[in-house]
Amino acid sequence: YKRVTVKSLVDMKANGEKISMLTAYDYTMAKILDSAGIDVLLVGDSASNVMAGHETTLPITLDQMIYHASSVVRAIERCLVVVDLPFGSYQSDPKEALRSAIRIMKESGGHSIKLEGGKEVKESIKRILNAGIPVMGHLGLTPQSIYKFGTYTVRAKEEEEAEKLMEDALMLERIGCFAIVLEKVPAKLAKQVADAISIPVIGIGAGNGVDGQVLVTHDMIGMTHEFHPRFLRRYLDLYKDMSGAFESYITDVKSGDFPSDKEQY
Ligand code: KIV
Ligand code: NA
Repeated sequence: YKRVTVKSLVDMKANGEKISMLTAYDYTMAKILDSAGIDVLLVGDSASNVMAGHETTLPITLDQMIYHASSVVRAIERCLVVVDLPFGSYQSDPKEALRSAIRIMKESGGHSIKLEGGKEVKESIKRILNAGIPVMGHLGLTPQSIYKFGTYTVRAKEEEEAEKLMEDALMLERIGCFAIVLEKVPAKLAKQVADAISIPVIGIGAGNGVDGQVLVTHDMIGMTHEFHPRFLRRYLDLYKDMSGAFESYITDVKSGDFPSDKEQY
């Protein structure tokens, strides 16, 4: 196998090869994803929702992100691991941002970090990049700012916000980010951004004109089932299959069918 690096991702864009990315928060899932050949695993702060049951991504801590990331890193052989800087670990000042990024790199073994925002976080990104830590940007719908926006609806539909997004993307490329996530923006705008820069744009709800796609793994395999935005394609209905398995087990235990003569010593 050949390891995926931040350099390979930029090469993939140059060669027109689309980049596949999914989230992972634990060892067992990361092992399956890496063996399947995923290019990038994102240890997303969506762990706050998916793993911990919080309503937003805000409560998850840096220590908790490091725990998830180290579990993922132990599982993988090939893919690139990107770890989200959680809310509150980089917004106060660039020094704090760098300290948080260094903790992720040292304590989890992840290969790069991702943080949300454009020019508001420019100095923090520059400082992290100066330390040799690769940074992925994240524009469009930025869930850590949910209380500012108030809703999870499509972003940058208006001219003014679209222009700011394009400026931010150009800036992120200029200062040295290796890729950008674009979340929930019109497909036409996402394509314009991808065409305007030479680093990969990974979309989620951003159409097919970008350089790669990311989804939350638990959503795409149907383990979660209350969440069905238009951009989500479900490849399995695991909620149903798992419920069926658990019900069968309960029935078998109650009836005394499990364990059988062959399932004991
Ligand atoms: O935390 C996350 O899962 C993310 C992706 C949706 C891009 O940031
Ligand atoms: Na995230």
